[in-house]
Amino acid sequence: MIPTTITFVQETLRGAEAGHDWFHTERVWKLSKFIAEKEGGNLLVVELAALLHDIADPKFHEGDEELALHISKNFLESQNISPEVIDQVLFIIKNMSFKNRGEVPKEVSLEMKIVQDADRLDAIGAIGIARTFNFGGFQNNPMYDPEIQPNLNFKKKEYKKNNGTTINHFYEKLLLLKDMMNTETARKLAEKRHQFMLDFLDQFYREWEFAMD
Ligand code: ADP
Ligand code: NI
Repeated sequence: MIPTTITFVQETLRGAEAGHDWFHTERVWKLSKFIAEKEGGNLLVVELAALLHDIADPKFHEGDEELALHISKNFLESQNISPEVIDQVLFIIKNMSFKNRGEVPKEVSLEMKIVQDADRLDAIGAIGIARTFNFGGFQNNPMYDPEIQPNLNFKKKEYKKNNGTTINHFYEKLLLLKDMMNTETARKLAEKRHQFMLDFLDQFYREWEFAMD
């Protein structure tokens, strides 16, 4: 089941933006398995959800928020998987995204918490920094502009416009993730990655100001 899913995801993600490509999925899948080993949870649900979670990001599909669900549902139903597992996996894919955080049901499964933590861990640290600058470049956003302040009260619609500076994205999302981790295992992993981002920002401003003096 898992190898078939991997092949399907690799083929579907061919040519995707580097921050949301197969390698992102692979890292999230492996982190998810690591967290699940410590925290428990149904491994099949965790693995399938991790592998399918970014199969069709609305950002790259004209804002279509149903497409990922649709593709995942068709795929899962074509395989020999129980309807209960399919429902659990689809629930996770539907509710996991950072931009949907205001709209998610209060009670979510352990499996969703695990995959969400893994996805959030891949958004921070050195890889998080690389993904963020890659995505900012993909959008042709400025790296930094001292005149533009971060917007901490984004509504979903504004967040989705993605047109701020890349440095502001650290304050609008990346630095908030450490305290949003669901599991103890992920909270521990997040600490070092979080500190690395703070050090990076510190050095970034030093170099910027040195050049401006
Ligand atoms: P989610 O899929 O959880 O809603 P996003 O797709 O918005 O989260 O973000 C995933 C990653 O894409 C972020 O961690 C970041 O690396 C990058 N990204 C998203 N929005 C921006 C942005 N406005 N500027 C720079 N990077 C961004
Ligand atoms: Ni993801």
